[in-house]
Amino acid sequence: MSTDPSADLSQRVATMSESATLAVSAKAKELRAAGEDVIGFGAGEPDFPTPQHIVEAAQAACADPALHRYSPAGGMPELKQAVVDAAAAHTGLQAEPAQVTIANGGKHALYNVFQALLDPGDAVLIPAPYWTSYPEQVALAGGEPIAVPTTLEQGYRVTVEQLEAARTPHTKAIVFTSPNNPTGAVHRPEEIAAIGRWAADAGLWVIADEIYEHLVYGDVAFASLPVVAPEAAPRTVVVNGVAKTFAMTGWRVGWTIAPTALAKAMSTMQSHATSNVANVSQKAALAALTGPMDEVARMRETYDRRRFLAQERLDAIDGVTCPLPEGAFYLYPSVEGLLGRSIGGRTVRTSAELCEALLETAKVAMVPGEAFGAPGHVRVSYALDEHQMLTGLDRVAQALA
Ligand SMILES: Cc1ncc(COP(=O)(O)O)c(C=O)c1O
Repeated sequence: MSTDPSADLSQRVATMSESATLAVSAKAKELRAAGEDVIGFGAGEPDFPTPQHIVEAAQAACADPALHRYSPAGGMPELKQAVVDAAAAHTGLQAEPAQVTIANGGKHALYNVFQALLDPGDAVLIPAPYWTSYPEQVALAGGEPIAVPTTLEQGYRVTVEQLEAARTPHTKAIVFTSPNNPTGAVHRPEEIAAIGRWAADAGLWVIADEIYEHLVYGDVAFASLPVVAPEAAPRTVVVNGVAKTFAMTGWRVGWTIAPTALAKAMSTMQSHATSNVANVSQKAALAALTGPMDEVARMRETYDRRRFLAQERLDAIDGVTCPLPEGAFYLYPSVEGLLGRSIGGRTVRTSAELCEALLETAKVAMVPGEAFGAPGHVRVSYALDEHQMLTGLDRVAQALA
């Protein structure tokens, strides 16, 4: 027997790495706590407080003894209904409450999906750059994550041809995220329809992560895959949540809208793994989905303004190429032109080293592209106070001058 207890960890977790995005924000917070003036561009969360009417609904829920008890593991019936109604109103999706499973955030909802769908050896196509948790979650379920690289030149919008080239007899599912984290890319409805038709023809499952559905800018419109490609609907799972739209990352409410058998399997899983999501949070999510949307519109307008300000500044830096994102709240500039340069007295060879150098010299935290399966880039969130954002970008420009 080994004397090192860490050697006893299961194979499943032994090779897993910590979420890079959470690690960067934790590092920034740690430096701040130590008195350093660090500006964080790492976090994927709105800088706004949760709208007041949602907070008040939660306060009322706290005071209701009926909510001090367990509720159905897969979610409160009224919240499931609200999820269905909100999806119908915003995207046109027709679904039943029995298709909904309420989970502890979109992240947990995705975890459920992979656990309930994948067997060892099943491959999942994940267009890259991708959100950092998808491959880890697929691997944790015994599946094989297959990255499908996309480029800045194609606007990071994956094509049917690229997906088809990556497909093998082992492919069981694809993850489709539009608007995208980290690139901010938003697929056009006809592109989404084509991907949905292709998936249906190939008999593949689609995991459509729609968590940024309300954060699209300019003339670009959001479209839901099972709506524009109804033939894909029998094997499509829509993943969503309140975190990004309603500035509710800490409340931990997300959900899936899935074919009924899968929804039932995920609820059963939750009945053993977590039981219900906190009732107070579910009531808050109910208030969010059924209440006024003007605060959401105001937050979106603010992000929209910031995306221009930040893109202009980043793109003006020699060695940085920064496209204007169309959705979510991230910029994803290429920093290839900076690699090999000396920054703060050290030569940076990778985007990870660049982020380390910027944290040390400019006191600015950004997430390296390595975390998203696309090195040579950095992810810059613009969900932070505008003055802070501009100060931070000035510091980056100075450090790179
Ligand atoms: C693409 C994407 N999906 C899902 C999530 C999960 O969000 P949450 O678990 O906070 O609901 C995130 C959060 O960063 C995300 O960016």
